[in-house]
Amino acid sequence: MSPLNIVILAAGKGTRMYSDKPKVLHALAGKVLVQHVLDCAVSLQPQQVCVVYGHGGEAVPQSMQQYDAKFVIQEPQLGTGHAVQQALPHLKDDTSTLVLYGDVPLIQHSTLHQMQQAGDGLVLLTVNLDNPTGYGRIVRNADGDVQCIVEQKDANAEQLQIKEVNTGILLAPTEKLRAWLGKLGNDNAQGEYYLTDIVAMAVRQGVAVHTVQPAQHWEVEGINNKIQLATLERVWQQEVAGKLMMQGVTLADPARLDVRGELTCGRDVDIDVGCIFEGEVILGDRVRVGAYSVIRNASIAQGTQIAPYSHIDASEVGANCHIGPYARLRPGSKLHDDAHVGNFVEIKNSEIGQGSKANHLSYIGDSTVGSRVNIGAGTITCNYDGANKFRTVIEDDAFIGSDTQLVAPVKVGKGATIGAGSTITKDAPAGELTLSRSKQTTIPGWQRPVKGKK
Ligand code: UD1
Ligand code: CA
Repeated sequence: MSPLNIVILAAGKGTRMYSDKPKVLHALAGKVLVQHVLDCAVSLQPQQVCVVYGHGGEAVPQSMQQYDAKFVIQEPQLGTGHAVQQALPHLKDDTSTLVLYGDVPLIQHSTLHQMQQAGDGLVLLTVNLDNPTGYGRIVRNADGDVQCIVEQKDANAEQLQIKEVNTGILLAPTEKLRAWLGKLGNDNAQGEYYLTDIVAMAVRQGVAVHTVQPAQHWEVEGINNKIQLATLERVWQQEVAGKLMMQGVTLADPARLDVRGELTCGRDVDIDVGCIFEGEVILGDRVRVGAYSVIRNASIAQGTQIAPYSHIDASEVGANCHIGPYARLRPGSKLHDDAHVGNFVEIKNSEIGQGSKANHLSYIGDSTVGSRVNIGAGTITCNYDGANKFRTVIEDDAFIGSDTQLVAPVKVGKGATIGAGSTITKDAPAGELTLSRSKQTTIPGWQRPVKGKK
């Protein structure tokens, strides 16, 4: 099989989205629609990918620069046949051309591969629908051979009964496609250049027309409005949840899981309701994720327990840690094994050593914390002077009393103790107690003020 040309049609305005964004730049499972299609296209290792976008859709090529694809504008938009014509200068003749749609995001590699295997000639992807209204109908002769596609608006009463419809996705020999597109007319109910008219041309020339059906209907669902977008999002999330459960992951409720990227799980992973996973997330064996946690681009090693409402972003968590509830790990955080990060603790760009604990109400930023350190409630690293950021270093076995401010750059030595309520501005020596506190005094006989008479 020689490598394909792939054309992705994405010129439609998407009027029914009622949005300033081009339709294909709306997101499904955390990835914009056209990117789903581009990723699937790339998985077929094509020699050329060409995206046809519409007037006002410059954001499409701008946001897809990471792809090795050609972007061509279709202006004005005179139909699907006219759209493919715009891509012709970029297509190589010695191979086939696959036409995909930027607003049909969930088409799968396996279905397209099946189309490639269907044989020489023209290959159409079709589905049978109980309600075919709006779609082009696949017209077959008595022998069951495809004769043409007739659009809803051009169909007669008999053709309107046909339940097999055109998904729009097709595969054609490029040289022939070029010739057929050159002969398209627009003498039809919509005054458009229909891509679908090439089917009758192929039949007239004796070119074989094959049909393939997708493994799942949702692969060919298009998106025109926010209801369809939300519906397809749920379909996709259900698929993802199903795959995870088949691999042994326990989901408290598969309908309340959102994966916007790639979630990889070990054995006996347990995920409670309402969790969101974004980017690349890896959960090791026996990891439990509490309700309504949001985890993005993170790896969590085996046995770690994440209590509800925790937020982990671009961080690495070791084995058997306890996180949350209500913990926040910001980018660049690394927790070694057995660390505890409790409620209302924020950690940013910091390393927390093995067995160390920050269990209550703390901010640890730009810090290196050794092993077995205890960070008391309310401890804050003052890492920012308004212009620059500085590091705090806390060595192994240190004990930081509650409500301590560590004004960086500062270092607390091995085994040092910091008295509660201290503001530490200079390095605290190893093994010693350091504190900064005004002496406690009592004023005998002091009375609280009382309200004066009016
Ligand atoms: C098209 C098919 C129809 C099929 C249906 C499946 C034709 C003539 N008809 O119908 O047989 O059942 O899709 O949904 O092909 N587009 C452009 N430029 C244009 C026109 C369309 O890029 O000038 C793109 C749209 O952005 C969209 C796709 O092509 O992604 C389909 O266009 P749409 O207008 O929805 O086609 P239909 O008339 O519904
Ligand atoms: Ca349509």
